[in-house]
Amino acid sequence: MRIVLVGPPGAGKGTQAAFLANNLSIPHISTGDLFRANISQQTDLGKLAKSYMDAGNLVPDEVTIGMAKDRMEQPDAEHGFLLDGFPRNVSQAEALDEMLSAAGMKLDAVLDLEVPEDEVVKRIAGRRVCRKDSSHVFHVTYSPPKQEGVCDVCGGELYQRDDDSEETVRKRLEVYHTQTEPIIDYYKAQGLVVTISALGKVEDVTARAMQALQSDK
Ligand code: AP5
Ligand code: ZN
Repeated sequence: MRIVLVGPPGAGKGTQAAFLANNLSIPHISTGDLFRANISQQTDLGKLAKSYMDAGNLVPDEVTIGMAKDRMEQPDAEHGFLLDGFPRNVSQAEALDEMLSAAGMKLDAVLDLEVPEDEVVKRIAGRRVCRKDSSHVFHVTYSPPKQEGVCDVCGGELYQRDDDSEETVRKRLEVYHTQTEPIIDYYKAQGLVVTISALGKVEDVTARAMQALQSDK
């Protein structure tokens, strides 16, 4: 299956993607995680991306589309993938469509996670991520690590993301509404959108998502 996950910052895309990708045996591709890996390795791409991310803005399409394409062309993504954080505006969605149709492929579904804004603010404020791998995500109240400040998965140090400050979160939400939400209408026109509530326990949201994806087929 080829799935796009969409939803505001802090909706739980990364959290859900890890379970869904595992259940569906497809790789989880997060452009945010790819950028953060480049930042921690101090690559040129990471240096460029950091300036945009810290301000809550989108990294330019020229850079992002190439990086996403390279990742989707890896052998593990041959039979499907779960995209998290890409596409993030209509021109990225158009680029993805072109990329897929050139390869004779298409998307199966766009899973839209709905969460009220006051809840995403709470989720982001308590989020802690692993320095070794930013796909290892915790929450100080909702899903605390066994040992404070230490990643359950790999023992890495947990920290608060630089772009999780209140001011940057406000900017990221604005960018989501103005630039990312329009892709939902773009995909609705293709009949691909499945919307679910992302409120409630993590496992309940996963079950809801699996049911929605399966009944969509
Ligand atoms: P990215 O990393 O994609 O961030 P985002 O979209 O803002 O999403 P988040 O990672 O903040 O949240 P999430 O929905 O994954 O929530 P999570 O599962 O962590 O992008 C960051 C930046 O990179 C962008 O601002 C941009 O600059 C750049 N970028 C990335 N992609 C780009 C692109 N395509 N084009 C241009 N620029 C790009 O959950 C949040 C918290 O809630 C966690 O603590 C979690 O434990 C908790 N939680 C999750 N589910 C639940 C639940 N059900 N109940 C209670 N708590 C929960
Ligand atoms: Zn870790």
